[in-house]
Amino acid sequence: HEVIHLPDTKFSFEGPFGTFDRASAQRGFQVYKEVCSNCHSMRQLSYRHLAGIGLSAAQIAAIASQFQVQDGPNDNGEMFERPARASDRFRRPFANDAAARAANNGALPPDLSVMVKAREGGADYIHALLTGYEDPPPGVTVAEGMNYNKYFPGHQIAMAAPLNTEGQVEYVDGTKGTIDQMATDVVTFLSWAAEPELEQRRAMGVRMVIFLTILGGLAYAVKRKIWADLH
Ligand code: HEM
Repeated sequence: HEVIHLPDTKFSFEGPFGTFDRASAQRGFQVYKEVCSNCHSMRQLSYRHLAGIGLSAAQIAAIASQFQVQDGPNDNGEMFERPARASDRFRRPFANDAAARAANNGALPPDLSVMVKAREGGADYIHALLTGYEDPPPGVTVAEGMNYNKYFPGHQIAMAAPLNTEGQVEYVDGTKGTIDQMATDVVTFLSWAAEPELEQRRAMGVRMVIFLTILGGLAYAVKRKIWADLH
């Protein structure tokens, strides 16, 4: 079994005091929306969740309304389409797995809601995967419909390089869309999606350490006092 070394990408949310860079997560959502969402669902997310990366209610309503979702049945028993609302789940690209496979040479694009938690290497792995497409080494033949990737286990992946052109995503905030930038941003967004409560969890840990330090000092002082007479 081959050991693949992942490059260590620097993310804003690493370390005990790390937080999600909101601007990066918002750009990452733009990458997901314009590129990844053509094939990958994020079924755990509703548009209203985007408040967590700093979008306002008005921005969320505007984003949701770009998508048509199924609703119904109405009073006549009919299904109908309407613009999505903040409370709707992210629209999924395919009606079901069979349709998703049919559009992808038989391969199933997995749901990305908790992908960062689902793969060994997490954020570093997905960043490496997105930037790890290259020509196969001499002697290696890539099967029909497959693509060579340095970091995918087995190296042959059905997904063609989704981020392949500088400026592919024209960021609304003017940031230059290099491939590395788009990969870092979308992984920041996916990491937030997989664990939106990360910042609270870390803050609680820091408070816990402060609390235990004070409690420990107190316990020590009390112990000294109680045993003071014993020489
Ligand atoms: C697989 C991410 C765009 C089709 C995957 C996997 C990830 C991923 C993390 C799982 C890899 C693994 O199993 O370890 C992304 C991201 C995208 C994107 C972040 C946008 C930047 C797309 C697009 C398509 C696509 C646009 C279709 C045209 C697939 C397929 C697989 C896959 C078919 C399954 C590959 C296999 O198992 O061989 N993608 N993807 N992806 N993706 Fe994407």
